[in-house]
Amino acid sequence: MTRTIHTQVAIIGAGPAGLLLSHLLHFRGIESIVLEVRSRAAVESTVRAGVLEQATVDLLTICGVGERLLREGHVHHGINLRFAGQTHRIDFERLTNGRAITIYAQHEVLRDLIQAANHAGREIIFEAHDVQVHDIDTSQPRVTFTQDGQPTEVHCDFVAGCDGFHGVCRPSIPAGAIDCHQCQLQIGWLGMLVEAAPSSKELIYARHERGFALVSTRTPHIQRLYLQCEPHDDVAAWTDERIWSELRIRLETREDWQLIQGRIFQKCIVTMRSFVADPMQYGRLYLAGDAAHIVPPTGAKGLNLALADVSVLAPALAEFFETGRSDSLEHYSETCLPRVWRAQRFSAWMTTALHRLPGMEDYKSRLQIAELEYVVHSQAASASLAENYVGFPLPAVAQASLAAGRSKTHVCGTGSTCT
Ligand code: APR
Ligand code: PHB
Repeated sequence: MTRTIHTQVAIIGAGPAGLLLSHLLHFRGIESIVLEVRSRAAVESTVRAGVLEQATVDLLTICGVGERLLREGHVHHGINLRFAGQTHRIDFERLTNGRAITIYAQHEVLRDLIQAANHAGREIIFEAHDVQVHDIDTSQPRVTFTQDGQPTEVHCDFVAGCDGFHGVCRPSIPAGAIDCHQCQLQIGWLGMLVEAAPSSKELIYARHERGFALVSTRTPHIQRLYLQCEPHDDVAAWTDERIWSELRIRLETREDWQLIQGRIFQKCIVTMRSFVADPMQYGRLYLAGDAAHIVPPTGAKGLNLALADVSVLAPALAEFFETGRSDSLEHYSETCLPRVWRAQRFSAWMTTALHRLPGMEDYKSRLQIAELEYVVHSQAASASLAENYVGFPLPAVAQASLAAGRSKTHVCGTGSTCT
């Protein structure tokens, strides 16, 4: 027999977008249920990005899930661009009036959000299979799924599609109802986790004739390294020796710098695409995060954009439930898309400036160096990179909602925030 659940907002996907949305709605007294196809262990351990913009740190902190992030995250006040054997620091502090980024892995953000949900008794249904959305063009949408073989139907007022780029929500929208703007890049990244102390205090984005390399970090004992590769490369073809040799070549510098090596304990290939759905909504289905848009990882924007979307969606839904007004919901896409396109522009620019692109002959290669020389020697160009990298303030509606929430909240001894 089919089990029936009633809730106000059915959220598909327990990634950053879905989990923060559920958390923010809870703050406003709105009930939601999160349906996630993977197990909790898989969600909490999948390695993804790790760069949080200043506004993202503020958002997570204000809504009560920033305690561990503030304690364990690493604040970086700049990044390094390395090309033609030299390293040039982009000083965020000086160029952006003291703003910074924080290195804190995405799965740690997810662990914090899951813990907050458990603490508040909010339900996240993991291993929810065959999730399907129905009647999204009516005021009573439904979501069906099975859990441990038990068919279940969720009756709700709204569905939030936070199920990533390959999820089921966006494809449930009738063809022609949204425009999809996209560009597939013929670039891949081989990502490695390495047991070793950081090779650099701040990230190094390196441009080399053989391709891009990135030195990032996770903890004082784990490095995150990336090498540009073919999108369809086989991970097995990248032996440890080949990886270290390629990293040494691409990161070569005339300065006194050493790549610290260690045991590589994880390797995976990330493919790249740029994608924007417009509008980010159809009927009672609202898309957020990767379900609505994707950027190449070079600008480190994906996680930040996902969280910014739901910082707009949560107060818009709250306004509807509290007053019956749907003005903010109607403006959801319009509010989010300028930030999304700004991130698309910046990510495409970083990607083009630093990668070896297909068909890149000598002339284009020299233009690339000229572009990077300009960026590091012009105060205006460095400031442009810096302000985009640290990110922009959240949209006014999100800020207003957080400010209102902050004045009504206090932090409990457990670390979660109560109204
Ligand atoms: N049913 C239920 N859950 C689903 C389904 C489905 N059919 N399809 C996907 N999901 C889940 C995924 O397992 C994942 O946990 O939805 C979640 C989507 O999470 P993310 O892909 O992390 O997307 P989002 O929350 O938008 O966050 C974007 O995550 O992948 C990074 O680089 C990306 O940093 C960006 C951020
Ligand atoms: C990471 O640490 O995983 C990372 C850092 C910077 C990026 C992308 C990924 O641009």
